[in-house]
Amino acid sequence: MCGIVGYIGNNNCVPILIEGLKRLEYRGYDSAGIGIIDKNVSIIEKYKGKVSILEDNVYKKKLSATLGIGHTRWATHGEPNKINAHPHQNNDKDLFLIHNGIIENYQILKELLAKKGYKFYSQTDTEVLANLIDFHFKKTKDLFEGVRVALNEVEGAYGIAVISKKEPDKIVVAKKGSPLVIGVGRNENYIASDVNALIAHTSRVVYLEDDEVALITKDGFKARTIANHKLDKTIEEITVSADEITKGGYQHYMLKEIMEQPESVRNSLRGRLLEKEGISKLGGLQGFEDRIAQSDRIIISACGTSWHAALVGEYMIEEYAGIPVEVEYASEFRYRNPIINPNDTIFFISQSGETADTLAALKEAKKKGALVLGICNVVGSSIARASEAGVYIHAGPEIGVASTKAFTAQLSVLALITILLARKRRMSHMDGRKLVKEMDLIPDKIAKILTLNKKIEKLAEKFVNATNFLYLGRGYNFPVALEGALKLKEISYIHAEGYPAAEMKHGPIALIDENMPVVFIAPLDAVHEKVLSNIQEVKARKGKVIVIANELDKKVDKMADHVIKIPSTCPLLAPILNVIPLQLLAYHIAVKKGLNVDQPRNLAKSVTVE
Ligand code: AGP
Ligand code: GLU
Repeated sequence: MCGIVGYIGNNNCVPILIEGLKRLEYRGYDSAGIGIIDKNVSIIEKYKGKVSILEDNVYKKKLSATLGIGHTRWATHGEPNKINAHPHQNNDKDLFLIHNGIIENYQILKELLAKKGYKFYSQTDTEVLANLIDFHFKKTKDLFEGVRVALNEVEGAYGIAVISKKEPDKIVVAKKGSPLVIGVGRNENYIASDVNALIAHTSRVVYLEDDEVALITKDGFKARTIANHKLDKTIEEITVSADEITKGGYQHYMLKEIMEQPESVRNSLRGRLLEKEGISKLGGLQGFEDRIAQSDRIIISACGTSWHAALVGEYMIEEYAGIPVEVEYASEFRYRNPIINPNDTIFFISQSGETADTLAALKEAKKKGALVLGICNVVGSSIARASEAGVYIHAGPEIGVASTKAFTAQLSVLALITILLARKRRMSHMDGRKLVKEMDLIPDKIAKILTLNKKIEKLAEKFVNATNFLYLGRGYNFPVALEGALKLKEISYIHAEGYPAAEMKHGPIALIDENMPVVFIAPLDAVHEKVLSNIQEVKARKGKVIVIANELDKKVDKMADHVIKIPSTCPLLAPILNVIPLQLLAYHIAVKKGLNVDQPRNLAKSVTVE
């Protein structure tokens, strides 16, 4: 998920690696390191924290080499600390590996390697791969072959770069699911996970595709598939400027993060669904599953967008697992002396894992003896560390202040937890399988919704001057209405409110006139007809109606002023899809108002104060 750079040539690689890592810092990082090899000397330097800490240290030591690799880590396995930072090495310490992504079968591989006498010092999946490559390198006596053969045993996602003291004239790289690009120079070559780290040196690049492995020397490169088929890769010329690429070519991080959702949701589900058994597997909750399933009550506590995810979780768990659920604002929970019984389980949801109110609520719950579990994005964050166990959502770094991809990944993880608990309680094997299959389709459905971007941008033009907005939905989509309203408020500064659609007639209906845009979330579900009636009520008062509806819904076209048609799914998963058009609508309205969507006024990405 984070950054990879590498250099082979005649110059000192150290400043090249450091500059490259700095260009990748925008992706988020928690530690950074370099591994360099020169004339039989091999050195690893790695530190927790910013690239600048690594920079200070390597410049102080005046390190120099003509071959090296560098990494900024966004931890998935093991806390961000010096030992878990990359590069990782084999037991003989003569092979260095940097890795972006997740090796899903690392436990099995670790056990196999341990039987062969390998020792492990970090908690990472990456160190396992370093030793697996070492094992095959020793057998094949060729670094490229060692990497290629090893990767045939690996399941998961990776972009990797490997160097070895035994073959100090090459870098071997490979890709599956994580980007990797070669930068072609003269008598020198580069590698990176993102062209942004290369453009200062060359505009000639070669993109690796999934399941490809390449050998890079200072004079050239060759590539094969992991299955050992020869490849003829073409060199491409890049024309984009450095500035554009920092946001992956997007104008804002927020848009980039919205667009990343097929991938981030896929990452949150990766390796966690067992289709045949119709169950989910969450390593982070191992050993606690039965205790959670037997809880008398589940409480979910969080702030902001994470609190909205919690509300969806309440609907999910109560309906499918039949366990009573309560959702609490962390800021309220911490001060109101809540009643907590020993048989309660409390989940704390936080993207950053650093939100002060959520952390304080967690500490309070722990004191009262409940089982406290975290659902976080940032690995090794305070909430993740303070929890007894938990689940990472693996959405990747979220930089835009308005949370988007973390929300959909939180919902995906809550759905995984729901399947886990429901199958232990009252869900049948067949229903479990159906749900697992449906979850598998979600990333592609998100991708389809994102093709509506232009259409939603056009729609946004009509509402730039609106001063109020109402968002309405029922059941699972009531929290989606709240989230749609929050997104709009945060970045466009338009006053917006979310309500359960039926609640409108108890008050907010007084606000409706020809100037009031009302967004309905109205998928084809059990309450669809009821929502259509609420739409009529708004139309009768001349409100401007925008509806998020399903592709097969014909009735809605005649009623609404604007309809955004998206694919359908089962009610429990619908919020993951329904929120996407709302994110895009808020984004485009804010951009058209000329506002800074990535850093909206008065807000901070991580609220570490009360
Ligand atoms: C979301 O767009 C917000 N910026 C904010 O509400 C956020 O969700 C809240 O501060 C909680 O943050 P956390 O998930 O990092 O704990
Ligand atoms: N899974 C690896 C780790 O936890 C790589 C993480 C990354 O992509 O930075 O160290």
